[in-house]
Amino acid sequence: MNPLASELNAVLAGSVSGRLLSSLGRRLFFPRGIIAQSNEAKLLAPVKNATIGMAFHNGQPLILSAISDAMPTLSAKETVTYAPTAGVEEVRKAWKDSLLKKNPSLKADGITLPAAVPGITAGISFMADLFLDETSTLITSDPCWDNYSLIFSERRGAKLRGVPFFGATSSSAQGLDIAAISAAIREEAKTGSVRIIFNFPNNPSGYAPTRAEADALVDIIRETAEGGADILVICDDAYFGLFYEDDISRESLFGRLATLHEKVLAIKIDGPTKEDYVWGLRVAFVTFGSLGLLAEHQDALGKKLMGAIRSSVSCANTPAQYLILKVLSDPRTAAEKQANYELLRGRYRAVQAFVAQHPDHPKLSPMPFNSGYFMSFRCKGLDAEVLRQTLLKEHGIGTIALGPGILRVAFAALDEEQIAEIYGTIYETAGKL
Ligand SMILES: Cc1ncc(COP(=O)(O)O)c(C=O)c1O
Repeated sequence: MNPLASELNAVLAGSVSGRLLSSLGRRLFFPRGIIAQSNEAKLLAPVKNATIGMAFHNGQPLILSAISDAMPTLSAKETVTYAPTAGVEEVRKAWKDSLLKKNPSLKADGITLPAAVPGITAGISFMADLFLDETSTLITSDPCWDNYSLIFSERRGAKLRGVPFFGATSSSAQGLDIAAISAAIREEAKTGSVRIIFNFPNNPSGYAPTRAEADALVDIIRETAEGGADILVICDDAYFGLFYEDDISRESLFGRLATLHEKVLAIKIDGPTKEDYVWGLRVAFVTFGSLGLLAEHQDALGKKLMGAIRSSVSCANTPAQYLILKVLSDPRTAAEKQANYELLRGRYRAVQAFVAQHPDHPKLSPMPFNSGYFMSFRCKGLDAEVLRQTLLKEHGIGTIALGPGILRVAFAALDEEQIAEIYGTIYETAGKL
């Protein structure tokens, strides 16, 4: 039992609520992680808040014109009607078309019609319902998004096997630790099945595989399937498209995994949350792909997912789905998204430039990063939480401590002009602690 859950149980002990809690109810807690730390930063670091996964410009969230213009014009049908359990058909088709455009190696027939869910988090949780329980192990990057442990371990009782994906085993390693990933997959394969989640661009490291690394990952999965194990690969593509270096593979790994082998089931969980700058709209999509996934398999999997949706949230938000339809068909969207991408890439480059100009910090070592919203430092001889608290209380800078060893900085939430000063303060403060 997580100590935070035990604390809550102790508070409720002897009360009617405490006596009535289910075993899941007893296991649940609210982590002192990203959301809690971000709430602190909202109060103490309103201007230099690098905690949360949203993109702002001059203090305002980015918003596409298709959304701001359409919001007041939605019809009654687009606003208040129930959406079908797996989403509005037209929206699902439009999202599938967009997937095929963004991932040219995808084959339309080999993948299901994306099902709409209320956010990527919900999609991940539904996949946990369908494919994981107390008997399963899920390979994930270490570090990974902190919500994975709440979803997979606390809710479903599965074991998370954290693997140091990001050059952790050798200080000279720059990118993915392919050997460590391969060793973990080979070991899990001995049980007859492997479950793994890939989140690229990654939260919290900000890393996405180069083309060569993507090839290596696909080879490992193929060889493992040929060796006889069943493999579930969940692609959490929350930050898809925010690739800042030329050598990064532009397609989701899902595109290749969906047609790789009969023993590989690939699942893409993605959505407009970050891709289209609509964090609070709460809509996302789940798409299945596997070589030899027949129409009847697609239908049955779709119905299983609908069971998970129906029994928990009933359906996804109707206006959000229609707004996404407008985003996808608005001729202004492509140019606006390109401009937002360039804005974020400018911030990324400013961070890369700072880090390159200040090598060999005695206490902070940046993990490899090339994409997404974040970058993270490994802290050596320094507690990341102490650094976070000092930055927050003495300098009004909001960052996230992930355990004692990692400090995450959301550069996507900072204006480019703030970056040199904020990173300068982070380096100086860490140096003094
Ligand atoms: C890796 C990862 N997956 C999923 C999500 C959540 O996405 P959504 O807001 O659509 O639930 C986030 C958001 O922070 C994330 O970082």
